Amino acid sequence: MLSEARNKTLTQVGAGTPMGDYLRRFWHPIAGAAEFDEKSVKAIRLMGEDLTLYKDLSGTYGLVDRHCPHRRADLSFGYVEDVGIRCNYHGWRMDETGACVEQPFEETYNPKGKLKDRCAITAYPVREVAGLLFAYMGPAPVPQLPIWEPFTWAHGFIEVITADVPCNWFQCQENSCDPVHFEWMHDNWSVRQRGELGPYAPKHFQVAFDEFEYGFTYRRRREGQEETDPMWTTGRVALWPNGFYLGGHFEWRVPVDDENTLSVAWFFTRLPIESEPIAPQKSFWWQAPIKDARGEWITSHVMNQDIVAWVGQGRVADRSKENLGASDRGIAMIRNRFFEEIEAVASGSEAKGVIRDEQTAQCPKLPIATVELFRDGLPRRDYLASKWFGPRIHDFRWHAGQPEHVRDAFRRAVLGEEYEGRIEALKAEDKARGD
Ligand code: FES
Ligand SMILES: [Fe+2]
Repeated sequence: MLSEARNKTLTQVGAGTPMGDYLRRFWHPIAGAAEFDEKSVKAIRLMGEDLTLYKDLSGTYGLVDRHCPHRRADLSFGYVEDVGIRCNYHGWRMDETGACVEQPFEETYNPKGKLKDRCAITAYPVREVAGLLFAYMGPAPVPQLPIWEPFTWAHGFIEVITADVPCNWFQCQENSCDPVHFEWMHDNWSVRQRGELGPYAPKHFQVAFDEFEYGFTYRRRREGQEETDPMWTTGRVALWPNGFYLGGHFEWRVPVDDENTLSVAWFFTRLPIESEPIAPQKSFWWQAPIKDARGEWITSHVMNQDIVAWVGQGRVADRSKENLGASDRGIAMIRNRFFEEIEAVASGSEAKGVIRDEQTAQCPKLPIATVELFRDGLPRRDYLASKWFGPRIHDFRWHAGQPEHVRDAFRRAVLGEEYEGRIEALKAEDKARGD
């Protein structure tokens, strides 16, 4: 249980709030690079700031104020040039540093004028890594962007999936240190959604939470799992400050404002040996729906199930009314450490997990359970028969709504020369399954 005041400290994300200032010390993923295959400008709101994300004709990304410095038109209706974005109202042009680099009428009318010099707008650095666009919205000096080890893996099918989640980011992140919910929300609820009364999944009987350099780990044992099980020896990672890392994928809960979160997930699915070499690795991006065509919440897929839990806790979860138990030790741990971190940053210290050293940022390692699934390939036949990869050819279990062109590209990558002969049968199976 938390007082209202402490709950606000954890959940407010605007500039100048304690948590807002703390979160601004980190790079945050904000979009998929492949999103910019389809468009060049996008309105985006991050940590309470209305911004414009664009990719100019030279391929440079910019993240600048939503409003033009002239008379405040919305720059997300602007169009990109070789350098920067041009406002669609009177043609002023801004570059990725926020400098106003062109004012067409002013330059014609008064070539010696100095108006440009006082028209710079807010701008934040953007970098692309492994199909993700990351932004840094904090004070200088800009820290290193961590190239996490999985971003360096080869021969994978990479999907970046975004979803708009209408609740505060912190309740989403608490879910990253909550092993027991897997049993009830993902396993048993799925049984019940299939119309079956059981059997229920193996029960958790032991959980452990630890802190390490880049966040927390949780470990779990369920009935039938020995002490040598990778879920007990290694476990999963709640990545500082707002990530979740599960071996083959990352999830981030990026604050949009105090009441909305952008879910950004990065999936790496290792392809069969026969599909190598996969180069250059292309990434796919798609926006995942959270409601169906009738306006009902989607509850069939893992992250959709998580999302209904997060949103169900309220726009901003009221932590003064909860009752924590032994399963919530990880939750208490995150909160306590964040309170300490917020204070440390406010008094001028470095936030834990921020990387300044260029070398260290090249491939920081995270605890990875079952690394062989991602690093080593399987022959195609074993791949399709495996309980891990086999079902993926039919369904992407993490998020509902995988677009057909992405599913098709995945099948083509997995099946190689067998693809043409099998695609019609696979599509018929999709139809029979109601996809
Ligand atoms: S408002 Fe943007 S150029 Fe005039
Ligand atoms: Fe979950």
